[in-house]
Amino acid sequence: MTANLHAPTPTRNYSASVELHREASDVLAGGVNSNFRMGGQPAPLFFDRAEGPYLYDVDGNRYVDYVLGMGPNILGHAHPKVVQAVAGTLEKGVLYAGQHRDEVELALRFCAMVPCADQVRFGSSGSEMDQAALRMARAATGGRLVVKFEGHYHGWFDTILVSVHPPLDEAGPEEAPVPHLPTQGQSAAAAQDVAVLPWNDLGVVKRFLTQHAHETAALIMEPILCNTCVVMPAPGYLEGVRALCDRHGVVLIFDEVITGFRVAPGGAQELLGVTPDLAVYAKALGGGFPIAAVAGKRQYMELLGTGAVLHGGSYNTNLVSTAAALATLEELASDGGASYGQMEARGQRLIDGLRELGRRAELPLHVQGLPGAFNTCFTSEQGEPDITSYRDYARRTDAGLQRRLLKALQDQGVRVTSRGTWFMSTVHDEAQIDDTLAAAEAALAEVSAE
Ligand SMILES: Cc1ncc(COP(=O)(O)O)c(C=O)c1O
Repeated sequence: MTANLHAPTPTRNYSASVELHREASDVLAGGVNSNFRMGGQPAPLFFDRAEGPYLYDVDGNRYVDYVLGMGPNILGHAHPKVVQAVAGTLEKGVLYAGQHRDEVELALRFCAMVPCADQVRFGSSGSEMDQAALRMARAATGGRLVVKFEGHYHGWFDTILVSVHPPLDEAGPEEAPVPHLPTQGQSAAAAQDVAVLPWNDLGVVKRFLTQHAHETAALIMEPILCNTCVVMPAPGYLEGVRALCDRHGVVLIFDEVITGFRVAPGGAQELLGVTPDLAVYAKALGGGFPIAAVAGKRQYMELLGTGAVLHGGSYNTNLVSTAAALATLEELASDGGASYGQMEARGQRLIDGLRELGRRAELPLHVQGLPGAFNTCFTSEQGEPDITSYRDYARRTDAGLQRRLLKALQDQGVRVTSRGTWFMSTVHDEAQIDDTLAAAEAALAEVSAE
C-alpha cells in the first residue's frame, strides 16, 4: 500500500455543481433526470467529461470512478474502440425502423456468450426488457402471479416495482412479506399480480410453489443480489430454485442487468452454473450506450417470434447502440477474455485493501461481493459474517456511517454509488487502486474522527 498522499482532508469546492443544480431545478424536475440521481452531497454533482477510470466535475474535481454510469461502463469511459465504432456508424444514419446487418452480428455474438440464449431480442433499457420477460412467462404458462424477492430491483415500472427496499416496519412478516409499493401514483392493481418472498431461503420457495404453482408464471431474481449489498446466493439455492421451477412448470427468469458481462462473460448463470429459462441483460452489454436484451430458451423466445407476445420500441437496435455493444463484446472477448482476469485481480486487491484499512481504523467496515462488483457498508462489529438477505442488510448496517464514508471518499476523489456499491472496469489499473486505497485510508480516518 502506498503512503497516504491524501491526508489531511482536502477542501474540495463543489460550488459550480451547487449553482448549476439550483439553476437546473427551475426547469428540470428536481434538477435531475432520474430520481436515483437526487440527493448528492452537498448537491447532485454535475460533470464535464470522463475518460477511462476518471470522471471530472464542473468544479474541476477529478474522481476515480467506481459508479461507471451505475455499472455500464465496464471498459471505462470513452473507450477508444467503442468511440471509434460509434463514430464509424454516424454517417450511415441512426434509426431505420428496419433491420441491419450489425444486429444479426450482435445476436450471434450474444448467443455465443450467454448460456441460456437460444435466441435474443434487443431493446433499450433493462426495465422494459424485464417487462418483456414477464409477458412471455405469463403467455407461456397462463399463470397470473410473478414471484419477486425482497431487496431485488427489476426496473421502475408499476408491474414489478415492489418491495425493493421497504421500510422494515411496513414490510410484514419475514417469511411472508407484505408487498410494498414505494411510489405515489403506482397502480396497485398492476402490483396485485406480484408475490414477494425473502431471498436465499429455499424452504420458503418450496412452500409457496406447493400452494400457488397453478397460478404462478415466473420467479424473477437477481442471481447475485447486486441491488442490496451484493449478496451471493447460498450454496445450492439457485440449483434448488431451478429444480422447483422445473417440477412446477414455472419460468425461471434471471435479471442479469448488472451481472451480465460483468461477473463473467455470460453473466452469473455462467459463473454459477445454473441456467434460467429467460434472462435480461443491459448495462455492461452496451459499454455505456442504451441497449438491453431478453434472451432464453427457444420455446419462450418463439412467443415473440410468432408475434403471439408483443415487444416493440422505436429505438431498439439503433445503429449507435448496436455498434457500441458489438465493440464492447468484442473487446471483452478479446485475448480469450484476458481483461476479466486483470479486472478481477485488481478488484480483489481493492477488496483486500479496504478490509485491511477498516481493521486498522478499528471501524466495522464490511466488504462483500465479487471483484467486479462489491459493496462496502458498516455493521456493528468487525469481522461479522456476510449479509445474506435484504432484511439482514437493513437490520445490521449503519446508514449514517455509510453516508459519512461516501462523502469523505468523494472529498478524497473517489466516487462510489450511494448504496456503497463499487463497480470495476477493465481500465482501472494498479496506480488507480493505489490512489483509491490511499484515499480510503484518509476517508476512514475522517469517519473515525467524527
Ligand atoms: C437488476 C436490475 N434490473 C433492472 C434494472 C433497470 O434497468 P434500466 O435502468 O436500464 O431500466 C436495473 C437498473 O439498475 C437493475 O439493476
